[in-house]
Amino acid sequence: MPQAIRVTRLAAAAAAVLFLAPPVTAGPNLDQPTFVDDVAPILHANCVSCHQPDEIGPMSLRTYREVRPWARSIARAVENRDMPPWDADPGYGPWSNDISLNDDEIAAITLWAANGAPRGEGDEPVQEQPETVGEWAFGEPDWVFEFDPYEVAPEGEDEFRDVPITTGFEEDRWIRAIEVQPGDRKVLHHFILWRAAEGAFYQESWMAAWTAGAKPYRFPAGSARLLQKGRNLIGDFHYHPSGEAATDSTRIGLWFANPDEVEQELVTLPVWNAGINIPAGDPNYEAEASRVLEEDVLVLAFTPHMHYRGKTMFFSAELPDGSTRDLLGVSRYDFNWQTTYQLSEPIRLPAGTRVRVKASFDNSAGNPSNPDPTVDVKWGLESTDEMLNGLVDYVAADN
Ligand code: HEC
Repeated sequence: MPQAIRVTRLAAAAAAVLFLAPPVTAGPNLDQPTFVDDVAPILHANCVSCHQPDEIGPMSLRTYREVRPWARSIARAVENRDMPPWDADPGYGPWSNDISLNDDEIAAITLWAANGAPRGEGDEPVQEQPETVGEWAFGEPDWVFEFDPYEVAPEGEDEFRDVPITTGFEEDRWIRAIEVQPGDRKVLHHFILWRAAEGAFYQESWMAAWTAGAKPYRFPAGSARLLQKGRNLIGDFHYHPSGEAATDSTRIGLWFANPDEVEQELVTLPVWNAGINIPAGDPNYEAEASRVLEEDVLVLAFTPHMHYRGKTMFFSAELPDGSTRDLLGVSRYDFNWQTTYQLSEPIRLPAGTRVRVKASFDNSAGNPSNPDPTVDVKWGLESTDEMLNGLVDYVAADN
């Protein structure tokens, strides 16, 4: 695999291919905002990926007729920054997949709701048609895996499943794109594809994630993920009952790269600490993890990964020259949204840099997501166990 790749080319490719920039819209009118002129563009760009029929959002928010009854709860949700789901603190990034609203957008929505949610004059902006369900984003995949249909009960607790996938590949495979096609978007909350450890069905390395509203994933040109020969995959499902019985038949498609064309391995470095032991009832258990980079890298993205008791996670870099750089802060972690924060511009870090991840957990009854505040919790694969795993996506940097 040739190591040489021009940094600028990779950066440009990363910006153009992996990251889907949100559409540029003119700022909203903060005087007399209306649905047609000000609110609809914000909802279309940031909300309807989930709030449309057959998606995870509990109601559709495309048209005035659909939105009007929800005006007040929308104002409340955006003011509290509960919606859209985006947990990164301001001041980091910038992120190419940032769907958070800026202060003007929030002000426009809250003022609009307070003014009685006026429609405004003229035609409503038309919402782009959703992609045709069932079609693959990048043509016919080189390999497709269909999971057996799974019945999700209409009511009750969220369900989690780790499903082994035997690949049977007799040589190394370089993966250049991954698409997850959720079977039933009303119940599949998130899905993570892991590479299994050698000879075991144990989550070793993160390959791709799908959460409500997510797009198929093509890696930056020249880079690919490695699936060593004989290695298997694991599908990690989180289902959320929708009130109706559902059958989920999710499938995944992989596109392989020709090994000669792979210039860089896209690596996900797990910065993890399996020694966590969170006492029952502890509202603020703190722990950290760190890893030293063995080569110069271009960092592309971060994914904080904890479970229900995860509360905060901060990523920073300690450079060999003694300086430190803050990379990402998430002070309101929410397990429901396995967000990967994709940098608009890759960050270059030299070999010898220590990447540090500091996390805190809330194992008290005051944490509404906590399944059981009366037990001590350790590292484990079950969602009722915990994890402290800060994932860092990078490629080797050219000198
Ligand atoms: C990634 C998917 C996603 C995006 C994007 C999203 N939502 Fe939601 N939204 C949900 C889900 C799922 C729920 C229900 C469960 C929850 O609250 O977490 C919800 C709940 C809501 C609720 C509460 C509904 C109720 O029953 O009270 C409101 C209001 C809302 N969303 C508004 C918005 C607005 C406004 C935006 C954009 C600014 C937005 N959402 C973006 C997924 C999303």
